[in-house]
Amino acid sequence: MGIDSRPGDRLTGPGQPSVEEIAAYVVAAAVWAPSVHNTQPWWFSADGQELRLHADAGRQLRVADPRGREMMISCGAALFTARLALRSLGCVPQTCVLPDPGEPLLVARVSWQRRAAAAEYEQRLYGQVRRRRTHRGGFDPVPIPPDLVAMLQSGAKRDGAMLRIVRGAGNRAVLAAAVETAEQALELDGLYARELASWVAPPGSTRRDGVPPTAYSARPEFTLPYFPGRDFAKGHRWGSAESSPSAAPRSAGLVGMLTTAGDRPIDWVNAGQALQRALLTCAICGVAAALHSQPLERARLREFIRTQLCDGAYPQLVLRFGTATQTAVSVRRTPASVLFATGGEHLTIGHE
Ligand SMILES: Cc1cc2nc3c(=O)[nH]c(=O)nc-3n(C[C@H](O)[C@H](O)[C@H](O)COP(=O)(O)O)c2cc1C
Repeated sequence: MGIDSRPGDRLTGPGQPSVEEIAAYVVAAAVWAPSVHNTQPWWFSADGQELRLHADAGRQLRVADPRGREMMISCGAALFTARLALRSLGCVPQTCVLPDPGEPLLVARVSWQRRAAAAEYEQRLYGQVRRRRTHRGGFDPVPIPPDLVAMLQSGAKRDGAMLRIVRGAGNRAVLAAAVETAEQALELDGLYARELASWVAPPGSTRRDGVPPTAYSARPEFTLPYFPGRDFAKGHRWGSAESSPSAAPRSAGLVGMLTTAGDRPIDWVNAGQALQRALLTCAICGVAAALHSQPLERARLREFIRTQLCDGAYPQLVLRFGTATQTAVSVRRTPASVLFATGGEHLTIGHE
């Protein structure tokens, strides 16, 4: 079938996989979705031919993300990945997003009754799920493939979001300044800094969540205009030394913003699905993406960006796209630790 599988994520045994095997396979892929500070704010419950995705409020960033917006974007990315994993098996997912108003942390119910072979592009997207990494820094001075932008924009639309390309030196500079202003404000905010530090792992840590030092460079790279990254190491000199960042500023790449018409949990889940579709589509084309949510964690800056750069639509994520050599390595919790049977027991199947 050409599915990119690894030991532990493979379906084994003769004949059709059981529903439990399918659930385990899907979750093993979904955990590789991006999430804010790699909080992985999700868990799954399986009940026959239905998988439920739940937001884990215990992993919400109470300071940076009091409304749970970024938590829901992260869950949306996991939902898209789960749907894609089902497609890779030839299952047709039926998805109900936020199905129960009385249970706001139940992000989605996904079932699969029908079968249809996966399209080639679905297989290719799926093949990038574990390979894709968040990029931090500048890009090579190489334009991204010309038809990629149109593909990203139509993809975002399908998920109920919009990808706006920030064109013009003036607008790019304004957005970069908003990122820098936010980054400085956040670094000076003690509560925020403490929360970020709790999601950063020191070298040698065996943690399977949070941002490990292998995920960012020890020496931050400057871009033109300057889009500063998060200060994960906070003066500890942690970070990867492998890449040798250039002293001269590098390209900031193509700058975009993922926006939604509304700003309710459904919009956040949509934005998350659109985000993961865009990241995987880029990965197929050898294009890396850098994510900046700093200015969207400050209410006034977010409102400024909404009114000045987004025609009143709600900005959900700032993105930069480009070509770069990527060395980042990330971590994830085991699928078995986030998958439960509906009765609350761990569902351990196959190799987990
Ligand atoms: C809602 C959201 C916000 C994010 N914000 C940032 C950010 O501001 N800076 C950053 O470097 N990465 C950001 N990320 C990327 C995560 O840090 C990244 O997905 C996580 O560490 C896992 O690493 P991976 O994407 O390489 O697998 C964000 C991701 C999501 C889903």
